[in-house]
Amino acid sequence: MSDENAADAGEPPVIVVENLIKRFGEQTVLSGVNLEVRPGETLVIMGGSGCGKSTMLRMLIGSIQPTSGNIALFGQALSSLDEDGLDAIRRKFGILFQSGALFQSMTLAENVALPLREHTTLDPNIIDIQVKIKLELVGLREHAEKLPSEISGGMKKRAGLARALALDPRILFYDEPSAGLDPVTSAEIDQLILDLTRKLGVTSVVVTHEMDSAFTIADRMVMLDKGKVLKIGTREEFDHLRKLSDEQAAGLDEEGRIIRQFLRGDPIGPITERRAVTGFAEDLLGSV
Ligand SMILES: Nc1ncnc2c1ncn2[C@@H]1O[C@H](COP(=O)(O)OP(=O)(O)O)[C@@H](O)[C@H]1O
Ligand SMILES: [Mg+2]
Repeated sequence: MSDENAADAGEPPVIVVENLIKRFGEQTVLSGVNLEVRPGETLVIMGGSGCGKSTMLRMLIGSIQPTSGNIALFGQALSSLDEDGLDAIRRKFGILFQSGALFQSMTLAENVALPLREHTTLDPNIIDIQVKIKLELVGLREHAEKLPSEISGGMKKRAGLARALALDPRILFYDEPSAGLDPVTSAEIDQLILDLTRKLGVTSVVVTHEMDSAFTIADRMVMLDKGKVLKIGTREEFDHLRKLSDEQAAGLDEEGRIIRQFLRGDPIGPITERRAVTGFAEDLLGSV
C-alpha cells in the first residue's frame, strides 16, 4: 500500500474540501472542514455519533448543499455543476450507505444490473457478464438469483457493494459499512474493502466509528470533533497515539488526549469530562 501511495503523491487529489460549513437551522454541524483525498487511498473519517460524518458524505456526493465552502471532485467544483454535470460525476462513484437497501423484489443480479440498465446503453448480454463479474468480486456469484430476503446481513452488504461497483467507480463512499454486523462478518467486509482497493485501485472514503475496522482499512484517517478536523494523518500516526501508555499520554495536549480516548474507547478522559461539564451546565439552565 505504502508504495502505491508514494507513487501517487505527485498526482492531484481526487477530492478537495475547503472551509466546509454546514448548518441545519440554528445548529452548526460542520464549522470549517478542510481535507484532501488522494488517488488510490482509503481515507477513514471518524468521530462521535452525531458529529456530522454522514452529513459530510452527503455533501461529498452532492446530495445536500454546504452552507458555505468548496468541494471539488476530480478538479471540478460541485457548486459549478448543473444537474447533468452532477449526474456525470456521480457515475464516477459508488456508494454503500447505511440505508443503502437493496430492492427487495429483485434478485441480487437484477439489483446489480439496475445502474447498468439505467445509465448505460449496453447490450443485455454484456450487462449479464458485468453483473457476474461484480458478484464474483464480492463472492456472491452463486447467489445471483436469490432475493435479498433469502440472504444474511453480511451478504446484503456484499450485494450492495457489488451494486456500488456496477459502473466501475473511481471513488467508493461507505457509510458505516460494518454497522449491524457481527464481528466476524464485519472483519470479512473489511477484508473485502481492502481487497477491492488493491484489485481495482479505487479511492475510498469510509465513515466508521469501529476502530478495529478503521485501523484495518485506512491509509489515512481524519478525526472530526465539534465540527472541525481535530487531526488528519496516516494510520501509523493514529496508531502511535492509540498505543501510548497512560504515563506517555500525560504529556499530550488536550487534542491528543481527546483523540487517544476516542481511539481506545476509554470510559474516562477529556471527551467524557467535557460531556459531564456540558450536562451540568444544561442541568443548571434547565432548572432556572
Ligand atoms: N436533514 C437534516 N436536518 C436537520 N438536522 C440534521 C439533518 N441531517 C443531520 N442533521 C443533524 O446533524 C447532526 C449530524 O448528523 P450526522 O451527520 O447524521 O452525524 P453522524 O453521521 O456523525 O452520526 C445531527 O445532530 C443530526 O441531527
Ligand atoms: Mg452517520
